[in-house]
Amino acid sequence: MTTHADDQVEVGAEPGHWFESEPLWFKRAVFYEIHTRGFFDSNDDGSGDLRGITEKLDYLQWLGVDCIWLLPMYASPLRDGGYDISSFADIHPDYGSVDDLAALLEAAHRRGIRVIADLVMNHTSVDHPWFQESRSSPDSPKRDWYVWSDTDECYADARIIFVDTESSNWTWDPVAGAYYWHRFFAHQPDLNYENPEVRDEMLAVLRFWLELGLDGFRLDAVPYLFEREGTNCENLLETHAYLKRVREEVDTLYPDRVLLAEANQWPSDVVHYFGDGDECHMAFHFPLMPRMFMALRREDATPIGEILEQTPSIPGNCQWGLFLRNHDELTLEMVTDDERDYMYAEYAKDPRMKLNLGIRRRLAPLLDHGRAEIELLTAILFSLPGSPVLYYGDEIGMGDNVWLGDRNGVRTPMQWSADRNAGFSRANPQRLYLPVIIDSEYHHQAVNVEAQQHNRHSMLWWVKRLIGLRKQYRAFGQGSLEFLLPENRKVLAFVRRFDDERILVLVNLSRFTQCAEVDLTDYEGMVPVELFGRQDFPAVGAAPYFFTLSPHAFYWFALERRGAEPVETTTTRELRVARSWTELLEGDATGLERVLPAYLASCRWFGAKSRRPASTQIAGDVPLTREPGGPRLTYVRLEYTEGEPELYQLPLAEARGEAADRIERERPEAVVARVRATEAPEVEAPGVLYDPSGEREFSEALFDAIVRRRRLRGRGFEVSGTTTRALRDLWNRADGVPEPAPLRAEQSNTSGLGATRTWFRGWTRGARATGWARASS
Ligand code: GLC
Repeated sequence: MTTHADDQVEVGAEPGHWFESEPLWFKRAVFYEIHTRGFFDSNDDGSGDLRGITEKLDYLQWLGVDCIWLLPMYASPLRDGGYDISSFADIHPDYGSVDDLAALLEAAHRRGIRVIADLVMNHTSVDHPWFQESRSSPDSPKRDWYVWSDTDECYADARIIFVDTESSNWTWDPVAGAYYWHRFFAHQPDLNYENPEVRDEMLAVLRFWLELGLDGFRLDAVPYLFEREGTNCENLLETHAYLKRVREEVDTLYPDRVLLAEANQWPSDVVHYFGDGDECHMAFHFPLMPRMFMALRREDATPIGEILEQTPSIPGNCQWGLFLRNHDELTLEMVTDDERDYMYAEYAKDPRMKLNLGIRRRLAPLLDHGRAEIELLTAILFSLPGSPVLYYGDEIGMGDNVWLGDRNGVRTPMQWSADRNAGFSRANPQRLYLPVIIDSEYHHQAVNVEAQQHNRHSMLWWVKRLIGLRKQYRAFGQGSLEFLLPENRKVLAFVRRFDDERILVLVNLSRFTQCAEVDLTDYEGMVPVELFGRQDFPAVGAAPYFFTLSPHAFYWFALERRGAEPVETTTTRELRVARSWTELLEGDATGLERVLPAYLASCRWFGAKSRRPASTQIAGDVPLTREPGGPRLTYVRLEYTEGEPELYQLPLAEARGEAADRIERERPEAVVARVRATEAPEVEAPGVLYDPSGEREFSEALFDAIVRRRRLRGRGFEVSGTTTRALRDLWNRADGVPEPAPLRAEQSNTSGLGATRTWFRGWTRGARATGWARASS
């Protein structure tokens, strides 16, 4: 698929804020974690960079992710993947510049994608000038910015985190003539949060990046900011008080941003990071993660059920971050010793796979490349309460390399294609920051984005569909959770509920076929509709519902009440945008995709009236004029519960004020939905989104494109105009420009575009003159 981002800027873009104010956006978001060094190399130096990510935004948009999480991209000697920062206000030169980040943010926002980044508050690199100054003399003004001591015996109750490399949290510094405190590597001295200057300075760092447009931070290693003798120096009240101050600053100056806490703690401790909804917006659920793997191998839903039962409820404006894998080892700190032994025995058969208290492997190798198991865990991840976080490369089932040190084996270059360096870089292969995966099972020649984009049965397409499906129901992000506890414990069953949405999730954790009786009496009379294919199952009766599940199968059902559902009409279809309707195409298209099936079904030219669309996707669009907010030809892909998918070309435009009233009055059948712009008080609201085929200006613009044989480029498609000689002759005649007759809305050959060609026969006064616009992807 070709895309032309630059053209988009010219014709479609408007400056400014791209999002409607939506303080709870993160509750429905799908996050995607990117190691900048490993994603895409735009300048052939063997290292991924920010421009590389910008170049790959089309891919991320196509996949459907809502928010990118960037691993630290700051200046750093990279002894700990960038978590060892040597300047908080600079970008690592291999990754680009602050301007490159600003450009990435702008381009991502334009596509409706937000971006957060890691912020390491707890420590710096020893290379940071603050530390160099601090160690230089006891009288240095920065001396007190770090935690110094004459002995290495203080805070003896604090555990060591990197047990494989460190034997103490204190390291002797011969320059300072004192010991300094560090919770992680010895080259990462902890900042001293007792010092008000440090506290203020870190707020300034935060503001600097938020001002640039970042949508928030993953707050790295937050439990360890303060130290207190006689405690384990984790989760201290002082730490929470400081985080509340951070939140206040963010809320006051930068609404709609998010703070995501990395607190690898038990649920009863983590929930304090939410405060009363006035601390972090999100926190990772670390203990749940290994239990999903455990449940799968033990073929028993108990570990998942138990940990979630033990998880206290959280304030309504907060959300869990859920993940299966990330850039670190699969940490086993939050399990019992027996459970840890079990996990090692099952998932780290080779001792090289262990690191600290964890397992340094990616998702696919952990599950022996078993597609059904990968899908199963991913589906669990996407259906439990929280926002799922995907780790780059896991969507294609990338492998890892245990022969590389530390956590590098899970941070290898993204596999884009079968080309040299997996399409990641055009550098000499020996220059890459890490070698690409060539293990036969995960070799980039077989496991890569390009190959999987071409195969609709690939894992990548499956993940994309899963994301799309999740977005159609708010219950996944915001719904309550109710376990159904069938007697067969190999089957995990629960309901997610939000308003009138009820999603029933059933998961067979066993490698064998299972049956389960599920008590659905609360939903008596409702019809379970399987979401992937929109197939009705028999209505729920008074008796327990009986399900048979094939090995490692999972089902998502919407429990729907039949007959009582309100009929959607134009007036009840309303789309909300921040400023311009084009956000519906460039950003999150879910809203538009949701209203289209009902609209299409009402169109005379729509050929598939008897078939039920299982999914509706905006596949791309082409602006017809250079005017921002002008009409566009959009391409809508419909997949049905039966038969072949179809691609429709649907012209769309927006009208406001009197023009909107006129269209609603005179051509109600052309109205797709009302549009309300929430951040554009200067425009009359609501407008209407409609099919402009019957409008003179649209006809003229399209005719003009055809007769001039223009090539119009857009997202994913290109439209080219072609004419017959007769039409050109007519056009060339001195008396010439034929007057285009507006097409009637009911005519079925204009917008009845079962194919991707738009014909204009009989369009001109010259009877046999013909022109057409052909769209290609
Ligand atoms: C966090 C990061 C990890 C890093 C550590 C020290 O746990 O996820 O990668 O090594 O902090 O900064």
